[in-house]
Amino acid sequence: MKRTITKKDPYKLIFVCLGNICRSPTGEGVFQHLVNERGLQSYFQVDSAGTSAFHIGEPANSKSQWTANQHGIKLNSKASRFTMRDLEEYDLILAMDHDNLQNIQKLDKNGKYADKIKLMRDFDPTPGDGSVPDPYYGGIQGFENVFQMVLRSCNNLLDELEEMIIENVRRET
Ligand code: 4NP
Repeated sequence: MKRTITKKDPYKLIFVCLGNICRSPTGEGVFQHLVNERGLQSYFQVDSAGTSAFHIGEPANSKSQWTANQHGIKLNSKASRFTMRDLEEYDLILAMDHDNLQNIQKLDKNGKYADKIKLMRDFDPTPGDGSVPDPYYGGIQGFENVFQMVLRSCNNLLDELEEMIIENVRRET
């Protein structure tokens, strides 16, 4: 996960859940929002994907969108499926639960990319069991719960990554 982050070589993250319509679009939208708030747009590329192909091409779920909107955040994702190419390309791959983590790890047959495949809640100060529960079949409270887990994790993760940018800028000046 540690590397020099520069504007020329931005840090690439991808949030991954099952359908890419609820949890990972929330991750993508929230992380991008925090990046924008801190004026760090040039240093990051943020995306999301699903381990299943069920919802390819769809926008984020309406309850996920509504919840994010309540917090002043727009979700602009269009569902895609996580691929081998994503595994190679991204610096950090953030699985939303243990099942998705395992499915991503299965694609990494020789464990070459093991260091960059993590649970998003590894960065949550209160990580619980490490999973973000699937809100798809439940009520709106489940979506707010997802949002709060994502917000805590993303804030914490961005603190760590921003520190890496600051260290590099210090070294260069
Ligand atoms: P997500 O939620 O993985 O957070 O996007 C789900 C969306 C759809 C389904 C399951 C989970 N589904 O079974 O269709």
